[in-house]
Amino acid sequence: MLTLGVNIDHVATIRQARRTVEPDPVAAAVLAELGGANGITAHLREDRRHIQDRDIRLLRETVRTHLNLEMAATEEMVAIALDVKPDYVTLVPEKREEVTTEGGLDIAGSLEKLKNVVDSIQSANIPVSLFIDADEAQIKASADTQAQFIELHTGKYADAANAAIRQQELEALKIGCEQALSLGLRVNAGHGLTYINVYPVACLLGMEELNIGHTIVSRAVLVGMERAVREMKLAMRNCL
Ligand code: PXP
Repeated sequence: MLTLGVNIDHVATIRQARRTVEPDPVAAAVLAELGGANGITAHLREDRRHIQDRDIRLLRETVRTHLNLEMAATEEMVAIALDVKPDYVTLVPEKREEVTTEGGLDIAGSLEKLKNVVDSIQSANIPVSLFIDADEAQIKASADTQAQFIELHTGKYADAANAAIRQQELEALKIGCEQALSLGLRVNAGHGLTYINVYPVACLLGMEELNIGHTIVSRAVLVGMERAVREMKLAMRNCL
């Protein structure tokens, strides 16, 4: 069964815009689960620009589905993962100056380091997923790390300038998915997926989970606006 991991980072982005307490990504996770999310994903970035340490600790206590902790392969983050014990960890590349995760990890280029990181997390019975481009060498290197999962980066597919390029990128994801499965890896995918472009990726055979965030939070802001204004009018009613 294909599952949906809802990434709640951008609920925290709105909160951090004011450094206040709302909206709480922990509350958003509860509502996402009520809506049918099969898992909750949160990225604790080194610069803490959205999700905070407190969020991860509370999510660990409150998430009823599974918690996927996205993080960089750093000593600090490994220590947090071993302490919090999410249901799985997705390792992602991280640059301070980027707006969002820009590309997949270079597993082939830092194989020994990543083998050690994967081993230290999986030894604590926390499966690891590696966020990579659908590239043959990166998939092979991912299998060499003994990680249980990869997450195929769907950003190039999502950002394709025209239908022909999109089809080419979809084909690359399909081939990557098949290669990974044949090497014994389990396969997730995500980044840049929207209500409009998700369907062909959802149809890829053997795909296990799609991690989707920005488009769902964007939609939630809009579909919730009318009710939110109505509730504020109600809160003001005695003075109207
Ligand atoms: N998967 C990974 C590894 C990511 O880094 C992100 C973005 O944080 C996502 C999925 C979700 O991407 P989006 O917010 O574009 O749906």
